[in-house]
Amino acid sequence: MQNDRTNTQTDTLANPQRRQGMKILLAGSLGMASITSSQSAKASNNCIHDYNQTVDYQGLHQAGVITPDTKEAIFVAFNITVTQKIQLQKLLQIISQRIANLTRPQTLSIGKNDQLPPAESGMLGQHLSPDSLTVTIAVGHSLFDQRFGLSDKKPSKLIPMPRFPNDRLQKQWCGGDLSIQFCANSRESVIYALRDIISHTNKYMIPIWKIDGFLPARDIDNHTTAVNLFGFKDGTGNAANTDAAKMDELVWVTKANHEPAWCIGGSYQAIRLIRFNLEFWDRTPLEDQENDFGRYKHSGAPMGMKHEMDDPQMNKDPHGDRILFDSHMRRAEPRIPERHVAKLRRRSFSYSLGVLPSGQMDMGLIFVAYQNDLKKGFIDTQNRLNGEPLERYIKPFGGGFYFVLPGITKDNNYLGKKLLDT
Ligand code: HEM
Repeated sequence: MQNDRTNTQTDTLANPQRRQGMKILLAGSLGMASITSSQSAKASNNCIHDYNQTVDYQGLHQAGVITPDTKEAIFVAFNITVTQKIQLQKLLQIISQRIANLTRPQTLSIGKNDQLPPAESGMLGQHLSPDSLTVTIAVGHSLFDQRFGLSDKKPSKLIPMPRFPNDRLQKQWCGGDLSIQFCANSRESVIYALRDIISHTNKYMIPIWKIDGFLPARDIDNHTTAVNLFGFKDGTGNAANTDAAKMDELVWVTKANHEPAWCIGGSYQAIRLIRFNLEFWDRTPLEDQENDFGRYKHSGAPMGMKHEMDDPQMNKDPHGDRILFDSHMRRAEPRIPERHVAKLRRRSFSYSLGVLPSGQMDMGLIFVAYQNDLKKGFIDTQNRLNGEPLERYIKPFGGGFYFVLPGITKDNNYLGKKLLDT
């Protein structure tokens, strides 16, 4: 596999005029962040291998929820350490400014004052290219406690993440007043952005948990759908992010959701940190693996079908002979009575940490779902999945529920303004 990224960067830095990009119109029609790409952009695996690619952070919705997949991500949860509403306002203003700054290309001037710490980490040198960076801010249930007088503004479905039957939740991996999702196409880009935000906000909040995510950097067997650590294509059944009407139906809070007015344009975020027992999985016969998902491992096709995108035709399989009733796919989305029973859109990443005390690899999935109704979305879907055979191989240990703040627009000129101003 050719490494386009290195070549593209060198090429583009040597030819600054190539930074003048073309607009991909996906964004405008969706009321979301627009995406700018240089001519050398190459879409692969739904990820774009171009360090100069920018994703506009402005719009009715925050970027990072339905923007195209990226290869790298960091999820961090924070607790707020200040106690006054005005300080919370200041924090969200600072974060908004940092996002504006981090998501545009720029050349830094080299500071000469050696008595002061440098203004930024220096880890990306002098020429900063955004690398499709998105920084997405969401707030947890705990932000609406007595501290900031926001309890009557809480999104109606926002609750602390409960323990589901197969969970072994570890407190140090759960919850937080704020979640930040960093996405970009290289590891150094997301780390740079995280360090920048932490260094500008450490008077206001402290990180409580952090996990790094990744997707394959290549198309696997010419399929554009990412493959997870179980070796299965993950994302096939996701509604297309280019379908604006579907995104309003599934993801974005609109008037139809009867939420507090400030919530319009936002979305509920469910993050689940799910450990895999890969050693056990790798000893499991292929037939069992495929029946557990309801799809073939290599093609991604529904059982009995040929191609990944083929309709599973569950109505022609009323007794579950082909796609088992307890398969992940049939439980997640039984397609009765309508196609979109699972009212959510997934944006998950794989993770790889260290070695567990048992000697097993600590690897798995950062499952992330966005939806405009947490109950009809994640919670109902998870309840249908409870007890699925796949549970033998998976153990959720952390995560949380959050509400993604609406995006930055003219009348909402910093994240959370409508929540905090009135
Ligand atoms: C270990 C955790 C999980 C793994 C490895 C996993 C993997 C998969 C795979 C391979 C598919 C089939 C391909 C696709 O449509 O994307 C799938 C489908 C799906 N999963 Fe998961 N998933 C996990 C957890 C969850 C959770 C926690 C939920 C929600 C509560 C969920 C909801 C869905 C939905 C809605 C579908 C689409 C079903 C369809 O359209 O047929 N998954 N998942």
